[in-house]
Amino acid sequence: MAPNLDPLLTVAWENNSVVLIDQTKLPNKLVYSKCKDYREVADAIKNLVVRGAPAIGVTAAFGLALAAQHSKAKTMPEMMIDLDTAFKILRATRPTAVNLFWALERVMGKVKRAKSMQEAKKVVLDEALKMADEDIDANRQMGANGAKLFKDGDVVLTHCNAGSLATVAYGTALGVIRAARESGKRLSVIATETRPVMQGARLTAFELQHDGIDVSLIPDTAVGHMMSKGAIRRVIVGADRVLRSGHVFNKIGTYQVAILARRHDVPFYVAAPLSTFDFESNPEDVIIEERSVDEVVKVGKKRVAPRGVRVFNPAFDMTPPELITGIITERGVLTPPFAKSLKSMLG
Ligand code: MRU
Repeated sequence: MAPNLDPLLTVAWENNSVVLIDQTKLPNKLVYSKCKDYREVADAIKNLVVRGAPAIGVTAAFGLALAAQHSKAKTMPEMMIDLDTAFKILRATRPTAVNLFWALERVMGKVKRAKSMQEAKKVVLDEALKMADEDIDANRQMGANGAKLFKDGDVVLTHCNAGSLATVAYGTALGVIRAARESGKRLSVIATETRPVMQGARLTAFELQHDGIDVSLIPDTAVGHMMSKGAIRRVIVGADRVLRSGHVFNKIGTYQVAILARRHDVPFYVAAPLSTFDFESNPEDVIIEERSVDEVVKVGKKRVAPRGVRVFNPAFDMTPPELITGIITERGVLTPPFAKSLKSMLG
């Protein structure tokens, strides 16, 4: 298939609206959803129109920009009340990806210092736009740092979608794969389908085909078999939250991929910008999102499980540091023990 060279821009601010690639429609249609109100932004995050930790963070920041622009407040304290309402609604959309909280708190921290409503509106939008630019820069830098870990001819497994579609553009895990390709290395990607929402099948397969990067799709259940045959040389995934101890929260299934990688001596890398690091929480503090039963009992629109069956649908899991070979950030590659390497990286 001939690659389409128009880069995917997942989140953008255009004519006072937040424009998102509607990821619920992929891979069948590449269409955009326009949010003109922060409540529409909150719904888009909740319903996975936009998803992936860095993309959620930047989108929420643009949500605050909409709240500021549409505020009918007459005084600064009234405006802060409006912004605080939007902050609370946006913050309650998804619990696991730390970028959401990081982005909202960063914008609120800035706007508190504004002297006028006009200044406040400008500060919120400027900060959101800055975050969008920083996201692309961090992804490119992560790409450059991580590409060195890959060899020409490597077959690389990735889980879920940590690509352009999970960020503003370029991607974290898939950004590293892009950068390795741009440096002349030929890589092939194996994407897991990533049940139950199929981010691997729907999004990673689409995104890599779109960019002309060799990709094969496998069922989640085929990872052990493929590794036992020597068909996978490396694993790279993204993250929703990385703790200072090196515990990584990412899409459900990541933990079992990491265990299989260790069993078969396959290096397991995580690519995550510093905006995905949570320097405060311990593993037990992190809320794992439980999503709707429908995602499990149905395949597409078709029900496959009997009515009344009990269902658990955790959307994320935690991979402990001892299963991780390295964590690629925009500042460098962290190696175990992560608490120590993080400390020396941050100085
Ligand atoms: O439920 P999702 O699709 O938002 O989950 C996304 C993931 O788990 C990604 O791997 C993670 O956010 C990293 S994205 C660069």
